[in-house]
Amino acid sequence: MALILGIESSCDETAAAVESRAGEELSSVVATQVETHGKNGGVEPELASREPLRSIVPVGGGGVEEAGVGWKELSAVAVTSGPGLVGSLLVGLTYAKALSMVRGLPLIGVNHIEGHIHAVVLEARRSGGEIELPALALVASGGHTHLFEFAEAGKYRLMGKTRDDAAGEAFDKVAKLLGFGYPGGPVLDMLAPHGEADAVRLPMSKMKGNALDFSFSGLKTAMLRWTQGRAMEGEIVARRALQKLHARPTLEQWLAVTPQETLDAVAAFQQVVVEELLKRVEKAVEETGARSVIVAGGVACNAGLRSAARSGRVACPVYFPTVHLSTDNAAMIAAAAWPKYERGEFDDLTLKAQANLSLA
Ligand code: KG4
Ligand code: ZN
Repeated sequence: MALILGIESSCDETAAAVESRAGEELSSVVATQVETHGKNGGVEPELASREPLRSIVPVGGGGVEEAGVGWKELSAVAVTSGPGLVGSLLVGLTYAKALSMVRGLPLIGVNHIEGHIHAVVLEARRSGGEIELPALALVASGGHTHLFEFAEAGKYRLMGKTRDDAAGEAFDKVAKLLGFGYPGGPVLDMLAPHGEADAVRLPMSKMKGNALDFSFSGLKTAMLRWTQGRAMEGEIVARRALQKLHARPTLEQWLAVTPQETLDAVAAFQQVVVEELLKRVEKAVEETGARSVIVAGGVACNAGLRSAARSGRVACPVYFPTVHLSTDNAAMIAAAAWPKYERGEFDDLTLKAQANLSLA
């Protein structure tokens, strides 16, 4: 059986996974530093690159060990070369290059965004299907909000991207503003169903030029204005205190320190983000005649987005990764490397870490 070892260290997570061509995951090890970052309210580049240094060797070795295979059974080593934080990327890249050299394994550099898209392709394959092409891929995470046309493996056309914040970043910033901690997406998502979205009016973006571009800065400003209009110090102090007591407060604990008004604002905010994303997807499907839509990246976990996308308003099937494959992981890096392996697209030891590596 041909196997690829994938390595990912572009930002928050250091991960390794061993995977077969058919998408069988023999192992997937993820060392996360969300808790380290949580205390500081966001990703800190300095910390982000120190953590993977500590974990890369145990994680990489653990990936192979957990797969129950020997190093000799690997066909290639695939690694994220960008986009991401250069300091973090370099750690994974150096490790993969060393393996390539010492074990004589072909080296395959993978774009992190292509990895997110392939997480979904991989799961479709695992359940015996294939995603029908041409497809559209919406990648929405803490760092990106990009809409691609994906006509065949390795061929992407950028149709739209954010002009300011990424969708996940908007969730994180608004959560911080309201005292919900980091990462913000999962908490706001959990609370949104408990608010009345129509009770708070928030603006949709107006795009000049490419109507498929995204913008979340106006929404963020509107949320800031909303907080300025009310006395929120008490509830924010209570939420901060809650986070000092519990690393991951439960829904009931959050609800106990969040008044209805704030829940309404959270629901309204999430509804606008979901609308901003889906409106463009619908439009792009109409324009391209795409036969499927892939939604990937951390924001693909969002329950509001999932149910709205599957309500029938998009004219073709919409695929989401399972939660386990929506956040950063290495299985998706190995999955994206398979088509390259088959085309014989290998990299040499000059492969560079690129903070702004683009897909199209
Ligand atoms: O893809 P990812 O794990 O890391 C990168 O940014 O590459 O995405 C993390 C982002 C964070 O901004 C987080 O708040 C957001 O995804 N996120 C969510 C949800 N879960 C994670 N946003 C909205 N709803 C969620 N359920
Ligand atoms: Zn990511």
